[in-house]
Amino acid sequence: MDPLTETIPSASGSPEIVRAESLTKSYISGDGRRLVVLKGLDLSVEAGEMVAVVGASGVGKSTLLHLLGGLDRPDSGTVLLEGEDLHNRQPAQLAALRNRKVGFVFQFHHLLPEFDAVENVMLPMLIGREDGRQAGKRAVEALEELGLGERLDHRPSQLSGGEQQRVAIARALANRPLLVLADEPTGNLDPATGEAVFNMFRSLQGTHRFAAVLATHNERLARRCARILQLEDGRLSHVSWEEVRWESR
Ligand SMILES: Nc1ncnc2c1ncn2[C@@H]1O[C@H](COP(=O)(O)OP(=O)(O)OP(=O)(O)O)[C@@H](O)[C@H]1O
Ligand SMILES: [Mg+2]
Repeated sequence: MDPLTETIPSASGSPEIVRAESLTKSYISGDGRRLVVLKGLDLSVEAGEMVAVVGASGVGKSTLLHLLGGLDRPDSGTVLLEGEDLHNRQPAQLAALRNRKVGFVFQFHHLLPEFDAVENVMLPMLIGREDGRQAGKRAVEALEELGLGERLDHRPSQLSGGEQQRVAIARALANRPLLVLADEPTGNLDPATGEAVFNMFRSLQGTHRFAAVLATHNERLARRCARILQLEDGRLSHVSWEEVRWESR
C-alpha cells in the first residue's frame, strides 16, 4: 500500500508525519534501580511543522528523539511514521525505513575525520545501498544548499565549527527525509554562528517541508518554532513561549 494514502490529514490540511502514542521508556541505572523517563507520552507532528521540545536537563528529550527516530525502542506505546508502526518490524527493516525517512542532527556533528564533506554526506546513503553516483549528486546539492559549495573536498578539521555543523545538517537532509530530529543542533556553537546555522535549517525546512522536532535549551530557537512542548514528569504539555519554565533548566 502506498504509505501516503495512510496518512491522517490534520485540521490544518498538512499530512501527519509522525505520531507517538502512550510512549513509555525506562532505564535500569548502574545500581539496578529503574528510572522511568517517559510515562505515556503523546505527540503528533505534521509536514512542514517545526516543534520545539524543551525541559530540564535529564528530563528525557534525547530519549524521546531516539524513540521517534527508531534509534531505541519504547517499553510500550507506538511511534507511527506516515502511519507505519516504526517499532513493530525487524531491525533491518527498521534501519531501512529510518534511512529513507528520518534525518538526525546532533549537538556534536559526529562527522568522520578521515572523510571530506561530500563523503560524509554520502555515507548514510551508501549504507542505505543507494547508487553511488546518485548519492554523490545529492550530497553536493545538499552541501550547496547549505552554502558549502566551496568546501566540498574539505575534511572536518579543515572546516569551522559552524561549517562542520552545516555538513551534519546536509547529511541529515540529503536524502530528503520526511522527519528531521535535531538534538541541540546549535548547542556547540557560539550564539551568532548558532543563529546563522539555525536560519539555514529553518529556511530549508520552508523549502522541503519536512516535519522537525527540535530538542533545545535555547529560548531564541524555541521561540521561532510553531509549537513549544514542555517535557516534564514523562509527558509533554503545550506551552506558550511565556509559560516555559526556563529556570528549570
Ligand atoms: N542508556 C541509559 N541508561 C541509563 N540511564 C539513561 C540512559 N540514557 C539516558 N538515561 C537517563 O535518562 C534520563 C533522560 O536522559 P536524556 O538524555 O533523554 O535527557 P535530556 O532531556 O536529553 O537531557 P539534556 O538536556 O541534558 O540533554 C537521564 O536521567 C539520564 O541519565
Ligand atoms: Mg539531551
